[in-house]
Amino acid sequence: MSAGLDPRLLARAREVVADTTGFRDDAIAQEAVERVLRAELARGRVPTEVLSELQQLGSPLAYTLVRAVLVGETYFFRQPEHFRYITQQGIPSALRHGAMHLRAWSAGCATGEEAYSLAACLLACAPAGMPLEVVGTDLHEASLEAARRGTYGAWSRRESAPALHPVYELHNGRQVSILPEVRKVTRFAPANLLAPLPERFGLFDFILCRNVLTYFSSSARDAAIVHLARALAPGGLMFLGTVEVDRAPPGLTREGPPELQAFRKPRLEERTFAQLPAALPVAMPRMTPTPRRLSAPMPALP
Ligand SMILES: C[S@@+](CC[C@H](N)C(=O)[O-])C[C@H]1O[C@@H](n2cnc3c(N)ncnc32)[C@H](O)[C@@H]1O
Repeated sequence: MSAGLDPRLLARAREVVADTTGFRDDAIAQEAVERVLRAELARGRVPTEVLSELQQLGSPLAYTLVRAVLVGETYFFRQPEHFRYITQQGIPSALRHGAMHLRAWSAGCATGEEAYSLAACLLACAPAGMPLEVVGTDLHEASLEAARRGTYGAWSRRESAPALHPVYELHNGRQVSILPEVRKVTRFAPANLLAPLPERFGLFDFILCRNVLTYFSSSARDAAIVHLARALAPGGLMFLGTVEVDRAPPGLTREGPPELQAFRKPRLEERTFAQLPAALPVAMPRMTPTPRRLSAPMPALP
């Protein structure tokens, strides 16, 4: 298959893809890498020139390679149990705890069906007038453009995952377009899960990151999970794909049955000493020989 291709070129191309996406070596489709390299050579470039472009991670060719290996399969209300849990447990719990707004993140949103499904859940269950926002992020810019267009064919709608809440309307026979109210609360932005989401995005009450980490190496997955967990608001819920992790991410606790792969960040008042951020300057009382009453209040955390 790789006949005629310089092995150094192939190896470097795979390395670039792995470094940019976090993918495990065996999750990188060899045919896709070879197709891109052959197309580049067919344009008259010599292997050393291509190799030298691949030495820069953010080069146009590096992005062409990354685009070629990304898998964008998605559809509305995929794994409906997550959306049911959000509407039946997550949102009511957030409201009981005094939420003034609801925010959700679809991390690795591909063409946006997951983000819009989340928005439909928030709209269906939040009190009228409550500020709502869903952010969909992905590494693949063309997918984000499709998400912003918000029109979908039959492939995005599956019998196995019926629309649980109003999300789209029939557009022209077979196509659907996202309802204006759903679109209004949803936005899309490029972001790589290997880096923390910039702080301007704020914290989220619900994070869905499904069918993304499954392609990652274990170190990339661990790094991405730390970034995801940091973006979760206290009391917030994160949902991962079925086989993507075998234990609760650090600082989160499992919620619901294990197969749900749902994890919650403790609310501030529920945190144990061990879950407090390490950097929090804890004012320790100075030890003095004077006996203190056992019931004396603990010094307040600044
Ligand atoms: C199979 S789709 C999953 C879509 C949706 N989450 C779902 O479950 O239906 C995986 C998406 O993850 C994105 N992706 C892969 N690696 C990524 C990374 N390092 N940072 C951000 N997105 C990434 C891909 O571009 C693709 O759109």
